[in-house]
Amino acid sequence: MCLRDYMLPPSVHIYPCSRVTWETFLTHFLCKLRGGAGSRSVGCPRTTRTSRSSRQVCEWKEPEELRRLLDLELRSEGEAAEQILARCREVIHYSVKTCHPHFFNQLFSGLDPHALAGRIVTESLNTSQYTYEIAPVFVLMEEEVLKKLRSLVGWSSGDGVFCPGGSISNMYAVNLARYQRYPDCKQRGLRALPPLALFASKECHYSIKKGAAFLGLGTDSVRVVKTDERGKMIPEDLERQISLAEAEGAVPFLVSATSGTTVLGAFDPLEAIADVCQHHGLWLHVDAAWGGSVLLSQTHRHLLDGIQRADSVAWNPHKLLTAGLQCSALLLRDTSNLLRRCHGSQASYLFQQDKFYDVALDTGDKVVQCGRRVDCLKLWLMWKAQGGQGLERRVDQAFALAWYLVEELKKREGFELIMEPEFVNVCFWFVPPSLRGKQESPDYSERLAKVAPVLKERMVKEGSMMIGYQPHGTRGNFFRMVVANPALTRADMDFLLNELERLGQDL
Ligand SMILES: Cc1ncc(COP(=O)(O)O)c(C=O)c1O
Repeated sequence: MCLRDYMLPPSVHIYPCSRVTWETFLTHFLCKLRGGAGSRSVGCPRTTRTSRSSRQVCEWKEPEELRRLLDLELRSEGEAAEQILARCREVIHYSVKTCHPHFFNQLFSGLDPHALAGRIVTESLNTSQYTYEIAPVFVLMEEEVLKKLRSLVGWSSGDGVFCPGGSISNMYAVNLARYQRYPDCKQRGLRALPPLALFASKECHYSIKKGAAFLGLGTDSVRVVKTDERGKMIPEDLERQISLAEAEGAVPFLVSATSGTTVLGAFDPLEAIADVCQHHGLWLHVDAAWGGSVLLSQTHRHLLDGIQRADSVAWNPHKLLTAGLQCSALLLRDTSNLLRRCHGSQASYLFQQDKFYDVALDTGDKVVQCGRRVDCLKLWLMWKAQGGQGLERRVDQAFALAWYLVEELKKREGFELIMEPEFVNVCFWFVPPSLRGKQESPDYSERLAKVAPVLKERMVKEGSMMIGYQPHGTRGNFFRMVVANPALTRADMDFLLNELERLGQDL
């Protein structure tokens, strides 16, 4: 075996002793997943759909039993190839099938086959996204992909970087806003800062508070802005919170608006919020981790009107676009090299300034990580295959199916919608037969809140589907259906309703 065998030109065999080359592997893989060469189907690959109903979403095991079944202990002797293969089968068997059309549990479901092919190539090449020297293709590709995402936001220039998830993208935004106002804090830390205040709505993602804690600002620095009955930030209350913070001696520096809130799928009114930020000179961050992909849809992108006025945007193509975990972009309007100034430390062993190429291409000093995964290829390859139009169809299809579900849900006796959705989060209660018509009973809400956890246990133990539930404000537990998987059809929406009725018929 020579060094060449470890590289990945198309003609190299997957294993030095195998007859299968990477090229044939990927060709067969893509063909299979796409249901035949040349297929441009936006939905689930045909091969997957035919076998889907025969497979469970999950096979529940109690932790002790699962530990025993998996034989997790690491020993000093290695195992034979067949045993290793059997172990892979077990891992797959007992893992939750998040690409299954009946996995509605998270804001991600499904995986585009081209994105998966991109991930296989990324994993095989095993490089780090920090220097042009060792990731020439990916440095240029990341630049291009970020440029495309920025253009959808409405910016013709700017900066950005792929981060390990939306929570980290949000955290970067807070750190950048703070650094821009107090550049001294990079060296002097918290000693350089007055008490700061940032603002986010009651419905914002929990990563905003986590980020504030992690960055040494403290969770108390996050001022919670009221939302209206649909879960949208109220700009007048934002004004009020800013005045209150100032009166208490804090210095406001950032507002984090949300485009697509986690539970209700609400879009904050960005134009009005941008006006407030402009008036007070505050950094506007838009957490569009969930809703950013709506920018691809000519029909629905109005939900994010005003996003072009933001200073930074977090957008997770691994959610609605099914690019696969993780794919999260932090986009910036800044053209002053803020990212690099804020995070750079010029490690001389890696970012030598006397290299033989343009060192601006060594993007690794823009981030707080050293080694960084390649997250652009999966999105780039998927975009190449589907085209912007294919992705737009996907987003539109998700909206259409969510609306179909709402209409069907209204026709059935045992379902109560929390509110008309504006996105693809459909929130509702399942009201079991024993509670129907009992809305006036004093313990109705308490009993209704107990229904979702029981149904969740039943569905997981049967492995028939997975859907999330939560309490929210004064509302007891309700289901949050997420229509994200491009493989979904109306039949899956009907299945969801039928299955809840079946699971809850004796309650
Ligand atoms: C609105 C919003 N922002 C941020 C995040 C965090 O993204 P990640 O899970 O990639 O950290 C989520 C996750 O669901 C989210 O819904």
